[in-house]
Amino acid sequence: MVDIEFVRSRFIKHFDGKTGNVYASPGRINLIGEHTDYNGGFVFPGAVDKGIVAEMRANDTEDTVMAYAIDLKDRVDFKLGDPAGPKASWARYIYGIALEMKKLGVPVKGFNIAFAGDVPLGAGMSSSAAMESCFACGLNDIFGENKVSQWDMVLAGQATEHNYCGVNCGIMDQFASVFGKAGCLMRLDCRSREFEYFPFKPDGYRLVLLDSVVKHQLAGSPYNDRRNSCENVVKHIAAKHPEGKFETLRDCTWEQLEEVKNEVGAEDYSRAKFVLGEKDRVLAVCDALTEGDYEKVGEMMYKTHEGLSKDYEVSCEELDFLNDIAKECEVTGSRIMGGGFGGCTINLVRNDLYKKFIDTAKKKFNEKYGHEPKVYDVVIGDGSRRLC
Ligand code: GLA
Repeated sequence: MVDIEFVRSRFIKHFDGKTGNVYASPGRINLIGEHTDYNGGFVFPGAVDKGIVAEMRANDTEDTVMAYAIDLKDRVDFKLGDPAGPKASWARYIYGIALEMKKLGVPVKGFNIAFAGDVPLGAGMSSSAAMESCFACGLNDIFGENKVSQWDMVLAGQATEHNYCGVNCGIMDQFASVFGKAGCLMRLDCRSREFEYFPFKPDGYRLVLLDSVVKHQLAGSPYNDRRNSCENVVKHIAAKHPEGKFETLRDCTWEQLEEVKNEVGAEDYSRAKFVLGEKDRVLAVCDALTEGDYEKVGEMMYKTHEGLSKDYEVSCEELDFLNDIAKECEVTGSRIMGGGFGGCTINLVRNDLYKKFIDTAKKKFNEKYGHEPKVYDVVIGDGSRRLC
């Protein structure tokens, strides 16, 4: 995590010299369960030890926010009452979450905020959810007597993406950022919102991310298109079965998907097929982990990659290349992580293969793309909290 004193020094320098409270929220990894959250399925994320640290303080104005993005050296001031909101994309997260927290009854007034992060942007580790949950945690504390529940903060973060940032995301990222716990992955049922902490200490293995440094950008159509495809399939199935209740693909069976195959078209069919398979794979991975069967976990991860690449079509050449290298090096499991369209692969690697895998991936990737992938060893950390 970013050093508190570093953030504090900038907060003092850019505003009136006074200090505020400091909050931190992490990015996330996801072992398995991709694009299942908005389909009512299961996900299996954990928070990481990297994220966003923000210092915040009420500034005694009615609704003026003065915001400084330390990493970008960018200052933006705006009013919460301005219906257009700020233009800078980073500032829209502050604007959006403040309005969403107001909707939840928090009497948000003007405030100053400076923040910095060490979760890589566009790497699929959810720097945006880290921002949303960090700012939500701060506003809840400063203006709301911490009355807003953790789940409501998760939903406020998601609504910020939907209403101000153009991404119709699910709840996985904000959930992981708010509820994360050091050393634990979490299996979340996105339909019932029940979840369970899973201590994760794979004996003899480690998790490592390889960042292709292809920037993933979810805003715009490709992510939302996938979601629309899934919803379209559900609509067709529901129309055929007026007696049933079909809200998401979670409520649909393989047989029902086959029934609408010709009506929905090849693209929507393949996407829904991936989602149904992914739902089952998360449960299989949970069982395998309980039994300590990491080979099975790895097998499921490769299957997920294949589905994300061929059926869901959210991979890219560089990520497929990293996945191939993992296979060649006999890495236990490897797949695209997060929304896709760039970012990282997540790899479950036996300790004795780790060095060979990383060295080979760096060398081969560099030969082909002219730069090495970045390597992040996964450390599973805590969720959103006040630091001081
Ligand atoms: C992004 C979204 C999440 C989830 C993943 C894919 O990270 O924000 O809600 O849909 O993609 O699993």
